[in-house]
Formats: sequence, C-alpha cells, structure tokens
Amino acid sequence: MQRLENKVALILGGAKGIGLAISQRFAREGATTWFTSRRNEDLETASQTINGNARPLRADVSQISELTRIVDVIKAESAQIDVLVINAGMAEYATIDDVTPAHFDSIFSLNVRSPLFALQAALPLMKEGASVVLIGSVADVIGTRGYGVYGASKAALRSFARTWTGELAARGIRINVVAPGPVDTDMMQAASEELRNGIISAIPLSRMGKPEEVANAALFLASDESSYIAGAEICVDGGLTQV
Ligand SMILES: NC(=O)c1ccc[n+]([C@@H]2O[C@H](COP(=O)([O-])OP(=O)(O)OC[C@H]3O[C@@H](n4cnc5c(N)ncnc54)[C@H](OP(=O)(O)O)[C@@H]3O)[C@@H](O)[C@H]2O)c1
Repeated sequence: MQRLENKVALILGGAKGIGLAISQRFAREGATTWFTSRRNEDLETASQTINGNARPLRADVSQISELTRIVDVIKAESAQIDVLVINAGMAEYATIDDVTPAHFDSIFSLNVRSPLFALQAALPLMKEGASVVLIGSVADVIGTRGYGVYGASKAALRSFARTWTGELAARGIRINVVAPGPVDTDMMQAASEELRNGIISAIPLSRMGKPEEVANAALFLASDESSYIAGAEICVDGGLTQV
C-alpha cells in the first residue's frame, strides 16, 4: 500500500530543490500532487521527473490573490486538500548594518505572510485527518551572521505551528515543521563558499543534506503514520543543532 493513497496534496513551491523532491516522493506514494512554481518552463521540466499523478499549477504564492485562485482550481477538480506543504521560501544575505526595509519585507512576505494566508485559503478544503507540513529551518534556533531576517522569519513560522496546532486540533488538522539544516540546492549554492564550508565543518555527519532526505521527513509528517505528532519540529540537519 502506498503511504499517501487517495490523498490530495498541495506543495507550494514544488518544482525545484527540496519542494521538487517532496512532489516526486508524494506522487510516488500515491497522492494526487498539485505543485506550484512561478514559471511554466520549470513546471514542465519538473513534471517530466514526477512519476504519478502530478498536477502543475503556475502561481506566485507570495500573492494572496494567487493563493485563493489555486485553491479554487483544486476545489473544482479535487474537492479537498489532505496535505498542505508550505515550502516556498527565500534567504538573502544582509548584516544588521545593511538590512533595508525592502530586504525585510520581501523575506517576511514570502516566509511568514504567505504561509499564514496560504493556510487560511486552504482550510475550507481541509477536513479531519488533514496534515500541514511547514518547511522551516534550523536557522529558527541558531544565529548565522548575515541571515538575521531569514532566521527570524523561520522562528515566526515555528511559532505559527504551535498556535495553529492549538487552534486546529479540534478540527483534526495537524501542523508540524520540518527544519532542514544545510541542503544542497540553489539556495545553499547562493551562500559563500566560506559560509558553506564553515557550516559543514560544524555538522556531526560532515556533509550537507540531500533534498530527498528532507522529503522523507515531510512524507512521514504528511502521512497517517505521524497521527499522534502535532506542533512538532523534525530537524533534518545531520545533527547540527542536536549535539
Ligand atoms: N537549502 C537549504 O540549505 C535550506 C535549509 C533550511 C531550510 N530551507 C528551506 O527549504 C525551502 C526550500 O528551499 P530550497 O533550498 O529548495 O531552495 P530553492 O531551490 O531556491 O527553492 C526555493 C523555492 O521557493 C520558491 N520561491 C523562491 N522565491 C520566491 C518568491 N519570491 N515568490 C514565490 N516563490 C518563491 C521557489 O519557487 P519558484 O519555482 O517559483 O522559483 C522554490 O519553490 C525554503 O523554505 C528554505 O527556506 C532550505
């Protein structure tokens, strides 16, 4: 039996990096897998790598109107959302001396505001047994020079998971966080080599993670196997924040 059989999943930011690995895994596990990107060409390329019921959606999930539009599409075609994965996120380097209002607003808009209104838009389609997986970061508990706004945004997301768990438990909807450490994607490639090497030297498993390893944790939290786990955070970080 596939682990997400008969389930409908929506992955916000599901066509590259960690999100693509989640889309691939969920579709393989039997889910009708709706996934977004801002670009049609990325959706097409991603679709070719997904085995199963892949349903690409072009959308900029930082826009509330786009979130409501895609939920309407899913409502018309799939009627429900059993699993919502909020993966889209951005990081940008700026120390306290260089941070600008635009830097703050763009990061908080995508990493904090968008998840809030994405869940609000999706909730009418989420019934008892539904699961929400937020892709956070171990940056929610450690300070990394130049990534203060990013870390604060992921700490806000971690906080949302606690509040939403309390608010939605009575409806049988679980919220959990997957917090990756450094994972080998475009986002990590954008960091300086010095920063990457510095982080890797601090990781007990002495390497970056793979997107598939984050997808494994997301699958567990999305599936009924984690039915008694709510408001939690699973760190997929090679032990970085654990020892
Ligand atoms: N890689 C790491 O080391 C690491 C560590 C901890 C946490 N994370 C978290 O994991 C998640 C995925 O990161 P990744 O490493 O897979 O990065 P990535 O390959 O750069 O992918 C970023 C994702 O966010 C979406 N996105 C980026 N900017 C956007 C914007 N302005 N508006 C709408 N969507 C936007 C992208 O969608 P499009 O297809 O539309 O571009 C894409 O799906 C993020 O939340 C990140 O914070 C990553």
